[in-house]
Amino acid sequence: MTTGCPLPEAGPETGLHVLKGLARERSLLTALEIMRAEVGPAFRITLPGFQPAVLVGADSNKQIMVSQREHLNFRSETDPVTKLLRHGVLVEDGDAHARLRGHMEPVLLKPQVVHHVPRMLAYTDQVTEAWADGSVRDMLVEMRRLALLIFMGTLVDVEFGPDLERLWRPILRAIKYISPGLWIVLPNMPRFGYQAALDQLDAYLYGLIRQRRAQLAGAPPAETAGTARDLLTQLVRAPEMTDDLIRDQILTMLIAGHDTSTALLAWALHLLSDHPDVMARAVAEVDAVLGRDAPTAANVEHLEYLDAVIKEALRLYPPIHVGNRIVADDTVIAGYEISAGTRLMASIYLTHRDERYWDAPAEFRPARFAREAERPAAFTYVPFGGGPRVCIGATFAQVEAKVVLGRILQRFALAGAGRQVHAYMGATLEPHPGVFLRVRRRRA
Ligand code: HEM
Repeated sequence: MTTGCPLPEAGPETGLHVLKGLARERSLLTALEIMRAEVGPAFRITLPGFQPAVLVGADSNKQIMVSQREHLNFRSETDPVTKLLRHGVLVEDGDAHARLRGHMEPVLLKPQVVHHVPRMLAYTDQVTEAWADGSVRDMLVEMRRLALLIFMGTLVDVEFGPDLERLWRPILRAIKYISPGLWIVLPNMPRFGYQAALDQLDAYLYGLIRQRRAQLAGAPPAETAGTARDLLTQLVRAPEMTDDLIRDQILTMLIAGHDTSTALLAWALHLLSDHPDVMARAVAEVDAVLGRDAPTAANVEHLEYLDAVIKEALRLYPPIHVGNRIVADDTVIAGYEISAGTRLMASIYLTHRDERYWDAPAEFRPARFAREAERPAAFTYVPFGGGPRVCIGATFAQVEAKVVLGRILQRFALAGAGRQVHAYMGATLEPHPGVFLRVRRRRA
């Protein structure tokens, strides 16, 4: 191993600032921002039972995501994510990880994803039809409903509407189960109040797998060749995939694939309604490009300004704000010695707000991502991670965001309903307490 320096830690003065910041803002993000400003782009948090290494910036991102990744594992056995997702692709390392990705990746490539655009649109219309003219809606709730319908309707190919209300709470419980909490410092603490909800979710998923197996068993061979349109069919067709392994992948994709999209869509709507100039330009583009036509895979490609809005929302509020790893053997990353067993956190949030890479990083400026603007330097902008573990659903999420937001702006005028929003670290970085917007139907 090459040698490096020990990770810096906060002195007593910074410790005091962190405590004051926490008391003032009640947000761990504030604590991280103070540490970054006062200690630097690499530091160790020194709380009792919680001493992760936090690394910020392009060099460390590249090393964690690509060049040093063989020294890092994704999850530990005690992590609730491992307990919930068991052998999901997001939990596995090495060959098992590569095999699982290999099964699912073909379904998520652009040529496959664009087939789902009509259904993305149909679900958007279904959800927004219920928005009474002039009413106030919480977009965090609305976008979760929509993201769930879209994920299940397209990538699992089931109508989720009839089960949505019944499974809403179990899904939220599953998300709460893996969200940061006291378990971080007490990894073996019992977690009460989750089992019934998780069992309900499992019963539903195993039922779907059995049904799909039965359907495919009766299908003619021509219908079971090539890449499937949806993940469940693709996985059921793979001979080595047991029901347990399929359950783990579908639950992984369900959680990773809808909670993130929910956050992105809600943040984008919040930022748009909070910046009337940006909103006006985005609406003008939607009117010019779509007119009265429905969004399609082809025409949403021309929503360039909306694309920049989405990218800038992902920069300011990356739904996955940190890449978590466990160091497998003593290593040096970005010049710092990090010993085996250390929890490593690649802070996407702090990298996206680092003054070394961004002018006025706290400002919402979609122009940074205009087509003619210089592209961000490698590993300074990583909303979907990078390297072999880059987000498998990145294309799906971006197409979905353009279809959903394009359709909403085409049909509704949105205005903030006067509630303050702050970033909350759940399983994803969410706008809390929600995004309350007044919705008015636009007249043709
Ligand atoms: C705005 C939406 C999304 C964002 C911001 C996002 C972000 C990310 C990030 C940053 C990672 C890498 C984490 C790390 O390196 O520690 C990741 C991985 C992953 N994402 Fe996404 N994601 C989004 C949507 C989706 C969707 C739609 C799906 C599924 C359809 C999905 C499934 C996954 C999976 C399974 C992984 C783990 C991949 C692996 O370990 O090989 N994500 N995502």
